[in-house]
Amino acid sequence: MAQTETQVGDELATLAADAKALHLIEFWKERMEIELPEPRGLVKPFLWHWDDIEPRLRHAARIVPVEDCERRALLFSNPGLGGRPFMSTTLLGAYSLYNAGEVAPVHRHTPCASRFVLEGKGGYTVIEGEKCRLERGDLVITPNGTWHDHGNEGPDELIWVDILDVPLVEGLNATMFEFDYSEADPRSNSGDPVPTQYQTISEPEDHSNRLYANGGMKPLFVDRQRGSGNHSPMLVYRWKAMREAFDKMRDYEGSPYDGIIMEYCDPTNGNPVMPTMSFRAQMLRPGEQTRTHRHMSSTIYVVLEGEGWTEVDGERLEWGRNDVFVVPTWKWHAHANARKDGDAVLYSVTDEPVLRTLGLYREQTRTDDGAILPVAA
Ligand SMILES: [Fe+2]
Ligand SMILES: [Fe+2]
Repeated sequence: MAQTETQVGDELATLAADAKALHLIEFWKERMEIELPEPRGLVKPFLWHWDDIEPRLRHAARIVPVEDCERRALLFSNPGLGGRPFMSTTLLGAYSLYNAGEVAPVHRHTPCASRFVLEGKGGYTVIEGEKCRLERGDLVITPNGTWHDHGNEGPDELIWVDILDVPLVEGLNATMFEFDYSEADPRSNSGDPVPTQYQTISEPEDHSNRLYANGGMKPLFVDRQRGSGNHSPMLVYRWKAMREAFDKMRDYEGSPYDGIIMEYCDPTNGNPVMPTMSFRAQMLRPGEQTRTHRHMSSTIYVVLEGEGWTEVDGERLEWGRNDVFVVPTWKWHAHANARKDGDAVLYSVTDEPVLRTLGLYREQTRTDDGAILPVAA
């Protein structure tokens, strides 16, 4: 005999109560939360204006001692992420400032980190015994598991943009920070490691660039493995080299979506410098405007030169020197250099390597008459 609607309702209610007690959820009730037609649009396209932030950052440098925080930074909080200190679901970023003479003690962690320098001539990072001196536009990486400390030996403030894969690592529940660094003390007879706040410099001046910044050639007499993990043995990338490359390539057509775009790579194999983040720089020539595309990866941009705009899902983000902005995953976007008399140059960080490794990367373009076409990935 067929069950009545009331009987079925009672049985479903019993099932719901049992499921709750057993820590189960009925899929048929949550299906729409799981089977999404496209990625969630939680992360908002957003731009942080340097003009708004610079006075606050300099003020913080006067009233917040670096000793209290180890790293003095203002973290970017995407307005779509409920006040969490993340730019996207995979990337964390900040403007950091170190006053003349300040130092930040050594530590290491499972998230990968990067710094892109905006100001100051005396900044440095020490990674696994290599002291990398930094100037505006230089990129320095501190890959997963490498000990690193920072400092500013110059007369002026050091300002850089940090980008880390913290939310991604946090999502994998794989975050670990370590602060207890020790190394053998040459003044000790025993040779036993002793705790210390800063690494001894063990590599020669400009080690990374001497060995690896020679395009098309790699040294065969050194072990490419540095520290733990799977990352580039070259730890600092000079802006001077990137700018010279742009000038050599300016007459090429370039990418229809990004102009003259270059990826920083592991010079021994051409891979992104770290497995979770790809670092890039792109030049938009005077008046250049790119075509619209979207892809399954999130990108953080820092404006190094010029001014222009990036349109993201119909919203125009107008940018200028030192501004930072985010283009979330799967949002239609195009860039433009607003100036007719100079280049615009953007530095960017993307989680694309993760998406590609996992087979999740997709890219599409949209024609002028609205047709959506796949772009070969
Ligand atoms: Fe760190
Ligand atoms: Fe893009």
